[in-house]
Amino acid sequence: MTFAKGLQLVNRDESGIDLAFRADVLAGLASAQKAIPARWFYDDIGSQLFEDITQLPEYYPTRAEASILRSRSADIAKLIGPGRTVVEFGSGSSVKTPLLLSAIQPSAYVPLDIAGDFLRASSAALEEKFPGLPVYPVEADFMRRVELPGETASLPKLGFFPGSTIGNMIARTATDLLRSMRETLGEGALLLIGMDLVKDEEVLLAAYDDAAGVTAQFNLNLLTRINRELAGTVPVESFRHEARWNDTFARIEMHLVANEDISFTVSEQTFSMVAGESIHTENSHKFTRRSSQSLLAAGGWEPRARWTDEDGQFSLLLAEACAPRSAP
Ligand code: TRP
Repeated sequence: MTFAKGLQLVNRDESGIDLAFRADVLAGLASAQKAIPARWFYDDIGSQLFEDITQLPEYYPTRAEASILRSRSADIAKLIGPGRTVVEFGSGSSVKTPLLLSAIQPSAYVPLDIAGDFLRASSAALEEKFPGLPVYPVEADFMRRVELPGETASLPKLGFFPGSTIGNMIARTATDLLRSMRETLGEGALLLIGMDLVKDEEVLLAAYDDAAGVTAQFNLNLLTRINRELAGTVPVESFRHEARWNDTFARIEMHLVANEDISFTVSEQTFSMVAGESIHTENSHKFTRRSSQSLLAAGGWEPRARWTDEDGQFSLLLAEACAPRSAP
């Protein structure tokens, strides 16, 4: 197994503070609608809590997507064909990735992730499960074009982007990502992408605000992380987790809402919030057949096939990289 050398992806000052984290938090808390990018959820505790979320009874997306991969594997394999190098955007899930890799006959597997530790752990597990399959993990920020390992240069590619992670981006960012995926994967590439569907508001809200309070813990952990890593004095117990449906943008939003007027410091800067004011921490856009296909098209991917689970909760789409065209 080969590892990229890019261990300098995290830029720290002399006291060990992650400068990108600090910059995002300070800028986010200073804006009118306070907001912190969702990528900062995933410290060790946050990553574990997220694993727990995927097992919750209310959180249907993981199960629904895995069930599509299971029940439609023959169909999926036929359309993809053998010999493709699977490039997964993200470290890979212990359930979905093996389902895909065993359904098709891949020539190699390339997981891309910014978090090196997760990447190495999941790569090692996969190598064990698929002896003989070359695994080339690449530590990289996949929001930009990534240089793939030379060994895979002449092999046809299949991008894999499950989990409706595309829905965690606003349309402009999602489009940018789809376009850079096209550049990363090259001509003739296919993309297999999971996109969660618009459905009853109560079902959606429950999936992001479960009875056991795990999603609440996940959201609130961001404040604990700020206190620990950025010398913060945020009164975590003065906040509550809230999931909201934003009908205009067809998305679930997660917020951390202040229960009372508060003020606190982060990295020696003072912030105040009034009761009811929130920090916006996550978007999870939900799609329809049409909106999913137009997003793919905007990013340069022509939809080829689409599958849903038997309850019609989640969709998996296969798309092909389009040649650039000028009209119409
Ligand atoms: N992309 C998935 C979703 O939006 C997973 C996810 C990302 C998530 N952040 C989350 C799930 C926060 C629950 C809470 O559903």
